[in-house]
Amino acid sequence: MQPVCIQGHKEWITEVNFLGVVKHPNLVKLVGYCAEDDERGIQRLLVYELMRNKSLEDHLLARVPSPLSWTMRLKIAHDAACGLAYLHEEMDFQLIFRDFKTSNILLEEDFNAKLSDFGLARQGPTEGLGHVSTSVVGTVGYAAPEYVQTGRLTAKSDVWSFGVVLYELITGRRSLDRNLPKSEQKLLEWVKPFVSGSKKFHLILDPRIEGQYCIKSAQKLVSLANKCLMKQPKSRPKMSEVVEILGQIIKDTSSSEPVKEDDNVKENEDPVVETEPTRQGNSYRRRVFDFREMVSLRNRTGGKLDWRNWTPVVRTW
Ligand SMILES: Nc1ncnc2c1ncn2[C@@H]1O[C@H](COP(=O)(O)OP(=O)(O)OP(=O)(O)O)[C@@H](O)[C@H]1O
Ligand SMILES: [Mg+2]
Repeated sequence: MQPVCIQGHKEWITEVNFLGVVKHPNLVKLVGYCAEDDERGIQRLLVYELMRNKSLEDHLLARVPSPLSWTMRLKIAHDAACGLAYLHEEMDFQLIFRDFKTSNILLEEDFNAKLSDFGLARQGPTEGLGHVSTSVVGTVGYAAPEYVQTGRLTAKSDVWSFGVVLYELITGRRSLDRNLPKSEQKLLEWVKPFVSGSKKFHLILDPRIEGQYCIKSAQKLVSLANKCLMKQPKSRPKMSEVVEILGQIIKDTSSSEPVKEDDNVKENEDPVVETEPTRQGNSYRRRVFDFREMVSLRNRTGGKLDWRNWTPVVRTW
């Protein structure tokens, strides 16, 4: 157990209230809380269960030595999607997470992923209302454009953020990185030229796992990310649909036949990908792709995927 954070009062109350109600294998557990007055004012404390493998951000930003394998990335995306689907669709009332990002996706010892930080969560619109009007909060780089522009919040704002995180999983880059050259700082803009043509697609894949991914699987994930990043919130899928699509991608990835790079499908239908080609990107050379099992995945329960059935595949093209 680990005392984690002291936040503003409103966020603290929100967190205690919501985490006291929600219960799901992909949401972090609140172990305890306290608020005490001392000479410094009110001291507030939240104690979460300890997530031994830290956050997804820690792994993607190489704070943790070995990179997450492609299979682990798919699994983490699926877990996180299940958490969001529960909040959006499976409770008596709808909760919009509002701060979905890699540092709020925590990983247990067996890499089961859980969402944390409910301080900004907001109850969804009541029956008949399309959105909640609210001040814009969240994290730059993840918030949906219509929410930033109008303050109109719907569950589809979380779906947008989910799409951003999918691109972070695919590329190993942050949604916004001021340390990169100007043209590469905004992830969604940087990926545009690469996802529209199959010849350049590999250039966006995380170089830390070069040699371990399946191009076709990565393309399907890009296609899903693009659906989540549709300009019109209504065109974005519901999180339960995302869970289903991810389940299918995982299934196909574990059972698919070897594919040639030239066979790659062009599945991009989102404005995010409609731009001219450029030459920027990671260096790449043709190689043998070795799709290996990198971690031992434990048996999962509760209607989740059974990772014991994962079959490593060796591909050459
Ligand atoms: N329950 C936990 N178990 C283990 N590590 C945790 C836990 N909660 C947070 N952390 C670690 O602390 C880091 C910071 O989390 P924290 O929520 O304080 O900040 P943040 O997510 O970067 O920003 P924000 O305040 O906007 O949520 C995480 O990336 C993770 O490494
Ligand atoms: Mg956090």
